[in-house]
Amino acid sequence: MINQQPALRSARQIASDVFERMVRKGDRVVDATLGTGQDCLRLCQLVGESGLVYGFDVQQDALRRTQERLDMHGVKDRAQLHLIGHERMADYVEQGIRLAAFNLGWLPGSDKQVTTKAETTLQALDSALNLLAPFGMLVVCIYPGHPEGAREERALLAWSARLSAQSYTVLWHQFVNGGPGAPSCLLVEKIK
Ligand SMILES: C[S@@+](CC[C@H](N)C(=O)[O-])C[C@H]1O[C@@H](n2cnc3c(N)ncnc32)[C@H](O)[C@@H]1O
Repeated sequence: MINQQPALRSARQIASDVFERMVRKGDRVVDATLGTGQDCLRLCQLVGESGLVYGFDVQQDALRRTQERLDMHGVKDRAQLHLIGHERMADYVEQGIRLAAFNLGWLPGSDKQVTTKAETTLQALDSALNLLAPFGMLVVCIYPGHPEGAREERALLAWSARLSAQSYTVLWHQFVNGGPGAPSCLLVEKIK
């Protein structure tokens, strides 16, 4: 029997489809919100031995969980993990990244107060845009089902709508019938 899954099942699924399409062996990419390290693991697998993933999180627990996951899969040498806010990424990341992934919100199973915030997320997105290689991509999963997430979504949409269409293409995937708190996925491609 064929094990069928819906193709449009979540914002994270859309993000992960974009990772597969964009990231090649030898690429350098950013995981701006390590969390449990699932995205970081997939990115490490995609960049291969010659690539590099720069990872950021403000919680020691997120770095520990990510480190353990990467260790378990034998790819820890492909990542540089930083216990610092993504708004500081420009101090650690070299120009020319292929992709930067942001999975906003809080670390599953931990303090919900430690969530990403509109102001610092916008600073980080500006930095990531400057670091992108031509035809590089920002991939942002947004969770507007809680008050800070809703504020963040409004701020990110306003920010992305102001980006020059000559330099960037912006696409917003939204689950139109998913209710007001449905997660969404914002993609920004640098086209020159
Ligand atoms: C939804 S989780 C990320 C999930 C992760 N991508 C995964 O695959 O498991 C969001 C993470 O963002 C982190 N975070 C919050 N503020 C941050 C900041 N300013 N810079 C970097 N990470 C931040 C939280 O600590 C949390 O671990």
